Amino acid sequence: MRIGILGSGLMGGKLGTIFAHAGHEVVFSYARRKEKLERLARDAGPKARAGAPAEAAQNADALLLAVHWSRVDDVLNQAGDLSGKVVVTCSLPMNADDTGLVLGHTTSGAEEFAKKVPEARVVCAFNTVPSEVLFGVFEAGSKATRPSLVYCGDDADSKGTAAELIRDAGFNPVDAGPLRIARYTEPFALLVAQLAYEGEGGPELAYRFERIRPE
Ligand SMILES: NC(=O)c1ccc[n+]([C@@H]2O[C@H](COP(=O)([O-])OP(=O)(O)OC[C@H]3O[C@@H](n4cnc5c(N)ncnc54)[C@H](OP(=O)(O)O)[C@@H]3O)[C@@H](O)[C@H]2O)c1
Repeated sequence: MRIGILGSGLMGGKLGTIFAHAGHEVVFSYARRKEKLERLARDAGPKARAGAPAEAAQNADALLLAVHWSRVDDVLNQAGDLSGKVVVTCSLPMNADDTGLVLGHTTSGAEEFAKKVPEARVVCAFNTVPSEVLFGVFEAGSKATRPSLVYCGDDADSKGTAAELIRDAGFNPVDAGPLRIARYTEPFALLVAQLAYEGEGGPELAYRFERIRPE
């Protein structure tokens, strides 16, 4: 697949690198310095390149939205028309200092984002995993028992695409249902972050806690 990364920080930088190593064509976009995007692309190998958000969106089979909530409108403006595009969002609706969600339980960041791009096909995924464990999960690959990762969305085809990317990243995709389920996964992601960054166990503890085994 051609995958456009909108936001090349901790999540976008790592997931883009993983997708490139898994054989996808990746365009890293949206960082404060072009040199950073170029370095990410160089390090990710021949399948990756750096570009502007509009280049990342052009001809993309899937886009990863991985920006702070406050940057969503800006990156959308730069990406241009996303009609028909599969957009996998891991962005959480956080306040400026990342201490809390800015939305109540009657909606979610994923649903509010989907309203901004009504012609796109939005899937919510990867937001329940601390970025620190991503490379380890990918590198463990088939050797390890795959950790589960929940995703949700309203469009079956785009959920299939997201599930493929989740599998390529080394996880077992668990379909949690329609996009509105993000109302529950987003606060869950905060619990994971609390355990990972403020508890004593670090991201590995959050990662173990995150495992779910569907029957
Ligand atoms: N980190 C995690 O473990 C984690 C886990 C689950 C969900 N999430 C969610 O995923 C999303 C991304 O998180 P993250 O940790 O990857 O954030 P991040 O490391 O801060 O990455 C955000 C990206 O946006 C870019 N950016 C910020 N301001 C910009 C500007 N003015 N112009 C251009 N680019 C700009 C940053 O550029 P620079 O690279 O130049 O800084 C960076 O590449 C957030 O919504 C977060 O809540 C994160």
